[in-house]
Amino acid sequence: MGPTGAGWRGVVYHGGQQRANRPIARFSGCLHLRYNNDFSHLSDSSVFSKSGGDFCSLTGVSSLSTDFQRLRKSCVDMTSLALVSDIHGNLPAFEAVVADIQAHSPDAVYVLGDIVHGCPWSAEVLDLLLDLGWPMLMGNHDDAILQLGTSRMEPRYVDRGRYAMLWWTRASLSARHITALTGLPLAFTLNFPQAPPLFLFHGIPGKFSVGFRPDSPEEWVVRRLAGIAETTVAGGHTHEPMVRLVSRRLVGRWTVINSGSIGASYDGDVRAAYAWLAGDARGWRAEIRRVSYDMRLVEAGYRESGLMASGGVMGEMFLRSVLSALPWVSDFAWWLREQPADVLVDIRRAQQAYDAAYGPGHWAFPYVS
Ligand SMILES: [Fe+2]
Repeated sequence: MGPTGAGWRGVVYHGGQQRANRPIARFSGCLHLRYNNDFSHLSDSSVFSKSGGDFCSLTGVSSLSTDFQRLRKSCVDMTSLALVSDIHGNLPAFEAVVADIQAHSPDAVYVLGDIVHGCPWSAEVLDLLLDLGWPMLMGNHDDAILQLGTSRMEPRYVDRGRYAMLWWTRASLSARHITALTGLPLAFTLNFPQAPPLFLFHGIPGKFSVGFRPDSPEEWVVRRLAGIAETTVAGGHTHEPMVRLVSRRLVGRWTVINSGSIGASYDGDVRAAYAWLAGDARGWRAEIRRVSYDMRLVEAGYRESGLMASGGVMGEMFLRSVLSALPWVSDFAWWLREQPADVLVDIRRAQQAYDAAYGPGHWAFPYVS
């Protein structure tokens, strides 16, 4: 499968500069969905195969949304999409984004993972998503929640002090929520009759624990995309929104979209971020939209839910990230991975040592090959 249009134009802009997101043109035809549903990698939690099955053969998957079922059964006009990612249980931010999306009425909305874990409302966010019926992908945080208490749990998660927020979030979810997360696909390939195909994932093709950033070295990005036939790809994970063209002669040319994060932006802009795409036979237009919300609700929610008291250091660091729009929690988590065992014994002292020597931006999201 290859592109049928002339490619994408990318525009990054912020709220207050909103333009009318009018479809370039409308077209009719059956939407064909093909997506990855191979979970055999998950003991590794970093690698997935791009080989997948035809969507229509997967009707038994319990997490298939009503929206997917509707799309599978009928032909639809589709010229506009919203991509949302990294909600991380931030209900006030997500509700604000849902209102913004619904005000602009895209033809479909896709959720690129990291739905839960971070802010206190993972259950409520999942409830809302299930009501909306938006197709969802698996993120690394969603997978971490699913690992807890199972045979494939990473050994580090046994430390309930260091991972207090993770265990708190797991306890906040019902069996219905766990069922909704279990079996989420790892990637979507979306084919359109008169527009280029899109490849959607959480991090990068093949890994959901690594992601694209605006300043990722182009050589590194090209290596991660080599072999990907779709010339427009989109993910999240790094919480840094972008629309970026990368190319390398004899290798390929791609428009790489990172829809950013709804729950905790890492680009210094505290507003929620999501991507808006409009396409036709000539290609796609991609924009990043920013949405303000009342962040005081997040602070209050941490206190009232008990997450502030029970979420430990990582909970504090996540809230710090939400309020500053800087990657405190991810940076600290990556730093911890490189510390000797004696530093990990006391997570509070480790945080104090980190704060004294570092700050966000030193460790988060290394360019793992
Ligand atoms: Fe995330």
